[in-house]
Amino acid sequence: MSFLKPQTHIEKGDIVILYLSVNSMHAIEAVPTILNKKGETIPHIFQTPYGSLKVESIIGVKYGSRVELSKGWAHVLQPNPELWTQTLPHRTQIIYTPDISMILHQLEVRPGAVVVESGTGSGSLSHFFLRALKPTGHLHTFDFHDLRATQARDEFRKHGLESFVTVYHRDVCNLGFTSELDGRADAVFLDLPAPDLAVPHAFKALKLSGGRFCSFSPCIEQSQRCINALSKLGFNEICSMEVLQQENVVKTRTVPVIDLEFLKQPKSSSSEATKTPKELKKYLTSSNPQVLPGHTGFLTFATLPPNIAKT
Ligand SMILES: C[S@@+](CC[C@H](N)C(=O)[O-])C[C@H]1O[C@@H](n2cnc3c(N)ncnc32)[C@H](O)[C@@H]1O
Repeated sequence: MSFLKPQTHIEKGDIVILYLSVNSMHAIEAVPTILNKKGETIPHIFQTPYGSLKVESIIGVKYGSRVELSKGWAHVLQPNPELWTQTLPHRTQIIYTPDISMILHQLEVRPGAVVVESGTGSGSLSHFFLRALKPTGHLHTFDFHDLRATQARDEFRKHGLESFVTVYHRDVCNLGFTSELDGRADAVFLDLPAPDLAVPHAFKALKLSGGRFCSFSPCIEQSQRCINALSKLGFNEICSMEVLQQENVVKTRTVPVIDLEFLKQPKSSSSEATKTPKELKKYLTSSNPQVLPGHTGFLTFATLPPNIAKT
């Protein structure tokens, strides 16, 4: 139940983030035993570069505590969508926090919202939708890959989120979303190779009172086709953007003060005094790094205007 509400102590069956460092975190299930490959029940021992953890020993421990490993220590944290995205089992490519924050903001996902998503994939984005729309909203998430849909459903149940989400095994490009969703969605989100084919179905599912649409595509050609499909159906406020993180590097630099007298000297003058600037000053500077983090995808947003006729 560790995703449902804040908890003070680890309960049996919780998903716990074992935090070794900012670049090394693991999601583990707080159960005392597991099955090995032969189907035998064995003690649940989790191996890390700092030695092993007997998982039974963390049940009942306070979240945030430091726990001993056989050759070091780690912290046990309650999971949230940000930590889950960094530790989840990858069944597909996933969407990460910088893009997700823009998606949640632009789609105005809030408690009570009805959100339709396809594909479910590894459920990275779904966990953020669920946190934002609880406790009165609902996520309807679709994937045409049977195993992925089943695994996502099991994961949501393990995380205590099953009453806020319905997982459908369905090809949304060919079959659309289910007809019970027609006109009910506050937001539709697509992460599909051919989003343009699902745009008419998103049109059907969206509410007429300003329903919001978003599609994530790694390639600009997919975005272009999606934008054409959106404008043909009368969506407005169509806008495509890319979220690029840019760090500002703050450093103290020593800079020579420009000596105007020195600049006035004839070039031929060789006196030592005129060769070196007289004064150096320290400045706090800010600059951008030489390398920017790579491209992830283009986000295309649109609104279904309230006065549009749905036939
Ligand atoms: C890149 S993954 C989605 C990842 C997800 N956004 C996340 O953050 O974990 C794309 C998913 O779309 C599914 N998919 C592709 N075409 C589909 C279709 N026509 N209908 C339903 N699902 C589809 C794939 O099976 C895959 O699981």
